Amino acid sequence: MRRRDFLATAAGLLAARTARAAQAHIEVFVDEPIGTISADLHGHFTEHIGGVVYDGIWVGEDSKIPNIGGIRASLVEALRSLKPPVIRWPGGCFADSYNWRDGIGPRAQRPRRANFWINDPFMVKAPDGPQKYEPNWFGTSEFVRFCRLTGAQPYLAADLRSLPPKDFYEWIDYCNAPAGLTSLADQRAAQGDKDPFGVRFWGVGNESWGCGGDFAPDEYAVEFRRYTAWLPEFGVKLALIGSGPNGGDIDWTRRFFAKFTEKGKHALHQMYGWALHYYCGTSGKGQAVDFTVDDWYSLLAKSTRMESLITDHWAAMGEIDTEHRVKLVVDEWGAWHKSGTEVHPAYLFGQMPTMRDALISALTLDTFHRHADKVAMSNAAQLINNLHCLFLAREDQFVVTPNYHVFRMYAAHRGAQAVRALFAAPAHPAQENQQHWSLAGLAGSASLQGKTLALTAVNTDAAQPLETEIILRGASARSGRLSTLAHPDIHAHNTFSNPNVVQVREETIEAQGSAFTFRFPPASVNKLLVELG
Ligand code: AHR
Repeated sequence: MRRRDFLATAAGLLAARTARAAQAHIEVFVDEPIGTISADLHGHFTEHIGGVVYDGIWVGEDSKIPNIGGIRASLVEALRSLKPPVIRWPGGCFADSYNWRDGIGPRAQRPRRANFWINDPFMVKAPDGPQKYEPNWFGTSEFVRFCRLTGAQPYLAADLRSLPPKDFYEWIDYCNAPAGLTSLADQRAAQGDKDPFGVRFWGVGNESWGCGGDFAPDEYAVEFRRYTAWLPEFGVKLALIGSGPNGGDIDWTRRFFAKFTEKGKHALHQMYGWALHYYCGTSGKGQAVDFTVDDWYSLLAKSTRMESLITDHWAAMGEIDTEHRVKLVVDEWGAWHKSGTEVHPAYLFGQMPTMRDALISALTLDTFHRHADKVAMSNAAQLINNLHCLFLAREDQFVVTPNYHVFRMYAAHRGAQAVRALFAAPAHPAQENQQHWSLAGLAGSASLQGKTLALTAVNTDAAQPLETEIILRGASARSGRLSTLAHPDIHAHNTFSNPNVVQVREETIEAQGSAFTFRFPPASVNKLLVELG
């Protein structure tokens, strides 16, 4: 036997042996690029709702809570470690009744308004306060300051339901015109913001099929054209985002694009992104913390619907936008549990994220990476004290949730080239009421940056580890480092009094050659950073 043949046979035998022992396989094709993973895929969302802004972000300059110009210092510090690419504001449905002029000028003179969410039965019962009667202490310049402190790009959602187009382009003027050129820019400068904000991302409405005006898709298409027919650029290339579908509403996408381009496909040049909102909801009794193993599987299965939403809407957009000029912007996503775990009664939609939510974050971010050619931005809903949040805060108490850890781990993918990877493992049956799903036992994404391969993988099994063979096609590993987020209790979560229950474990692993095996713990989120030879 020639040496080459012997080596090939030996490698084959070794592969066969590892393959037999393994219950799952990951195959990474390093030479099959998908697209660059934009950092914007890891964006955030903040709305004037419940405890997000007051007291999640804004505590006030005179507060005893450590703050930077009124902004919660602990949040700024935690976000800095995360390097948030982009933050959307001021809503959500709140944006659809928000007049940006209320939030400028001397804070003491700003008007108080009823918050959009005041009629929610939960809010009716909540104590009075800034969550119910918006004091406008946190307006455009405070938000931009928050973005600057954290390094994020601001993404502003314009009110298309209650304000005319003039207010939209004047908001752009207020934000982006250099001081001395327009009266609005001078107003901004007089408030202490001489430098323009340079806001690039603008949402042209929000949920225009619902709270944002209850439009039909063809009506909204006409509105989008009207609101964007002229906008002042002031040297900033505006990236306009259309209010896209609610989950699987393909009709909204199809009819919008047909009407939008009825006068010609040049209209497509006006739109940067098409927003998609998808909340996977909750499962069982709907509790954030108190759930069964069946609820675990059904909610994870519902979260993975993101994949088909992306491909279905992308295909519908492509019927008109054949060159795919417009990308998807998933600017609201996450789990939406019932109330009961909020840290204060006025914190509408406040919930306590557990390991289950962490897996939803990981499965969803991995989905965006696998579709890096289609999705330009995503914004988890919401940043703090709300649905699917990364942080919880109440007065001087502050804690990071399991979702935060996932975002931190997954930052390794940013700016890297997503490459094709196959994940194969026994699936888990999942069901809720009459609906049945099959949840992948293992899912993830892979990306390449220079000689470093980032591989993230989620073992969805609530109780069993997964012995996995990892095969690198077209590359060979020299060494590897592993980060794991796991906990023996799938309900585990971090609280103010016990902030480190869920945390990331890091270690060096044996990762050499073009195939190696690894055991993923049950209910875990994993990141392997593999140095290639
Ligand atoms: O994130 C909460 C709400 O969910 C947002 O305000 C709205 O856009 C969506 O329906």
